[in-house]
Amino acid sequence: MTVEVQEDIFSFAPMEGITNVVFRNAHHAVFPGTGKYYTPFLGLNQNFNLQKKEWRDIDPENQLGGDGTAKVIPQVLTCHGDQFLWAAQMLADRGYEEINLNTGCPAPTVVTRHKGAGLLENLVELEMLLDEIFEGIEKIRTGSGREMRVSVKTRTGMRSHEEAEVLMDVFERYPFSEIIIHPRVREEYYKGQAHPEVFAALAGRCGKKLCYNGDLYTAGIWQERKAQFPEVTDWMFGRGFVTDPALVRQIQGGKKLEAAELLEFHDRILDGYLEMGTEDRNAMFRLFELWTYWRFHFQGADKHFKKLKKTKNLADYRARVRELFAETDFVPGKYEGIK
Ligand SMILES: Cc1cc2nc3c(=O)[nH]c(=O)nc-3n(C[C@H](O)[C@H](O)[C@H](O)COP(=O)(O)O)c2cc1C
Repeated sequence: MTVEVQEDIFSFAPMEGITNVVFRNAHHAVFPGTGKYYTPFLGLNQNFNLQKKEWRDIDPENQLGGDGTAKVIPQVLTCHGDQFLWAAQMLADRGYEEINLNTGCPAPTVVTRHKGAGLLENLVELEMLLDEIFEGIEKIRTGSGREMRVSVKTRTGMRSHEEAEVLMDVFERYPFSEIIIHPRVREEYYKGQAHPEVFAALAGRCGKKLCYNGDLYTAGIWQERKAQFPEVTDWMFGRGFVTDPALVRQIQGGKKLEAAELLEFHDRILDGYLEMGTEDRNAMFRLFELWTYWRFHFQGADKHFKKLKKTKNLADYRARVRELFAETDFVPGKYEGIK
């Protein structure tokens, strides 16, 4: 008997306010090699409409230069089957082949509305939602005539990891194309450390395709996880990947992040926002958020970051960024929490 060895597949996690179309396209252009990008959640509503920025985020015309080397998977946030099916049809019409359901968002405003991680609180309601979704999805065809794939991104419980097994029993009953598990409970938000041992226990008993997500900050950490659950081939990277956008390349045996490519990535994101019509100040605010991740690569740069944050106009901002790259030591680092 020959055993097929599955290649590892790496994906960029959905991150609201960060991994939108401008960021995804810039990343794909400067650091090709990531197979999948998930959109930040699209907040579905009873009007069956999206916000303007959400429509833009999924417009097929805008995606990854259209070269077909990476897939974009839209994620939705809802607790209503009819809204989910509306989105699935709308996305199929736009050429997407997979839709991802968010059952992990820990934000209080989301959870109290029984969405995101709030769906993990009442398993009867969760099952009713999934029944409706999978009954309806059978009728939705993609452009290539296939059924739309449905994947889910979830946590290992609301309050305790003891909930994880029962939750998995529910998810396993449905034909998800993939179950992405972030092994933290809702009450941990994204704080402290993830619990790969909880994931390992689930991976050992689950017949479904699981994707691991949580604290994959370096190639070394990924190797540890790969050794811990060798049967897993799907890996999702969030904060570690924002910090080091060359992380997947290193895992694949490529070179470390270089200053020039980080600067190119930065410029593409900034220019992307401006081309989209974002006001200068708002574009700069977007970049300030990214600097909270990228600062780990710059040694002795506190003064430069202080100056950068004080900039009031774009020309000044661009000059300060050049100064930072020219005057400080660039040593690729890793995500160490938001400072
Ligand atoms: C700023 C921020 C925004 C996020 N937005 C989303 C989102 O829209 N949808 C989602 O499923 N998860 C979201 N997440 C969670 C990430 O996708 C990921 O699960 C989490 O960061 C853990 O992975 P990591 O340790 O690799 O960062 C967000 C996380 C952060 C920090």
